Amino acid sequence: MTKTTFTPRVFSGIQPSGGLTLGNYLGAIKRFVDMQGPDFETIYCMVDLHAISTWQDPTDLAHNTRELCAGFIAAGIDPEKSILINQSQVPEHAQLGWIFNCVARMGWMQRMTQFKDKAGKNAQNVSLGLFGYPALMAADILVYHATHVPVGEDQKQHLELTRDIAAKFNHDYKVDFFPMTEPVIEGAATRVMSLRDGSKKMSKSDPSDASRINMTDDADTIAKKIRKAKTDPDALPSEADGLKDRPEARNLVNIYAALSDSSVDQVLAEVGGKQFGAFKPMLAELAVAKLSPISGEMARLMAEPDEIDRILSKGSLRAREITAPILRKTYDIVGMVGPV
Ligand code: TYM
Repeated sequence: MTKTTFTPRVFSGIQPSGGLTLGNYLGAIKRFVDMQGPDFETIYCMVDLHAISTWQDPTDLAHNTRELCAGFIAAGIDPEKSILINQSQVPEHAQLGWIFNCVARMGWMQRMTQFKDKAGKNAQNVSLGLFGYPALMAADILVYHATHVPVGEDQKQHLELTRDIAAKFNHDYKVDFFPMTEPVIEGAATRVMSLRDGSKKMSKSDPSDASRINMTDDADTIAKKIRKAKTDPDALPSEADGLKDRPEARNLVNIYAALSDSSVDQVLAEVGGKQFGAFKPMLAELAVAKLSPISGEMARLMAEPDEIDRILSKGSLRAREITAPILRKTYDIVGMVGPV
């Protein structure tokens, strides 16, 4: 069989299930912006169908979807250059998701650590959607034949599953139809940690607001959270090796590196030897300088929700030009009789 070549295409998504954190920004959105350009077609998605795998108040879900869209645009995603959509408005995601429910195996899904973490001791009582979540995620990606998916470290296992689903589909139906998508997990901030506990991921669902920086936090709040961030008593090292076994120090240096578009080595060359009392104000100043314009622009965009809705409507029409033919072809492969 001759190998199919696929158009270089980027897809990624974020759940509109609460506010955006610095982790979402550095691990995902900022990198989405970097990939926008002549090398790739780029499609970025608010995954509202995924969000309802845990309970979402309807008013909050609509608000969070628009706010996430505002966050994408404020951070530099250009709706002319990229396709911006909310998942529910491109029905081929859910349609291909069903096919993939029939391709993925129970054993594969049971190994998903994110499901185990989210379900915890309550596994009998969570939604079936939470269990099937990664099959829909594979559909999000493969319904575009996306070749590259920028994500944070926590999504790695889901992207491996996406490749397993594509490979099993291609094998079972004896086709070379779905690409082997490349995860793009790069940079200093693929796993931004909690400001209160360097062993825990920064997350919008952490009960402690002090553990994270929200994209809507004002300058004083950002500075205060950084000032109070947990650290150790030692000075910063001059080389990355010296951050081993110092998770909180490493996290703050990683954040500084990602915000300033430099490497950890470059940052340590500048700040090595400084105490946290000196480094934290530098980090706070940098974070405020980078994040304040984004939160200001988000607030401006949120004042015009109709404009956001128009951008999403237009995005879904453009998206369906890609997804409808791919779904039609999938149905043909599977043997679904269609319209003549
Ligand atoms: P979600 O909504 O939990 O997170 C969105 C993106 O932000 C990244 N991220 C982080 N990166 C670094 N440090 C952190 N502390 C941090 N917290 C979150 C995540 O890795 C992710 O890239 N399943 C996905 C959404 C999804 C998706 C997709 C992604 C649905 N379909 C298809 C890619 C392709 C999720 O729940 O992300």
